Amino acid sequence: MTLWIGTSWKMTKTLAEARAWAEGLREHLAGGAPAGVQPFVIPSFTATTTVREILGEDSPVLLGVQNAHWEDAGAWTGEVSVPQAKDAGAQLVEIGHSERREHFGESVETTRWKVAAALRHGLTPLLCIGESLEVKDAGGSAEFILEQAAGALDGLDADELSRVVIAYEPIWAIGEKGRPATVRELIEPFAALGEAYGGKVTGLLYGGSVNLDNAADLLGIEHVTGLFVGRTAWELEGYLELLRIAEAHAAV
Ligand code: 13P
Repeated sequence: MTLWIGTSWKMTKTLAEARAWAEGLREHLAGGAPAGVQPFVIPSFTATTTVREILGEDSPVLLGVQNAHWEDAGAWTGEVSVPQAKDAGAQLVEIGHSERREHFGESVETTRWKVAAALRHGLTPLLCIGESLEVKDAGGSAEFILEQAAGALDGLDADELSRVVIAYEPIWAIGEKGRPATVRELIEPFAALGEAYGGKVTGLLYGGSVNLDNAADLLGIEHVTGLFVGRTAWELEGYLELLRIAEAHAAV
């Protein structure tokens, strides 16, 4: 099993900051990716080509974009298409992050179209799902996230599904306002995801307030095959430490 360890920079970093982070990572991974680990990084659109050029074409680090439109081209002001993202060097497309669902009208329907667009062009869809605190408190987490996943993935054939990565990111655990989830809270959602998608998709990742203290425990949860990280990985040293933790975990 390969552990996917990646970060979205969300709406952070100047080009100079992006360059420094990517150059540091390239240097650190000059000998290849840590054994058993698939690193990935998802900068802002403005830094996609810069990070691609710094990492190089043969980098062991996968490069992604945080969103892409479902159409290949056209009159969609302000949007970026999957072929454009691919042209800029992206291999992954993040789809359906809760911040996009909450603030930018991302719906189950648009996540389905975007997953299809990514697959059509040979990019890996990284589908994010996650429930609110209200849903969690009502005991509906597993049902809710399975519905989000099915809405985006139903209808894919086995080969297409095998190219998808799912990241479970409970809204209540994400960002400054979030609190770290406990291992106990994640067992049931991952059991549900494992039953529905285990062995069928490329990976089942956890995201939301991952830090250097909880990463190893989170990787120990059944069906978890990686971590999708915000703040802790924005400083390169934090990301490198997460890679070390994952490498140690992969070795046992
Ligand atoms: P944090 O790790 O900052 O909570 O963000 C997680 C996330 O949303 C990754 O997509």
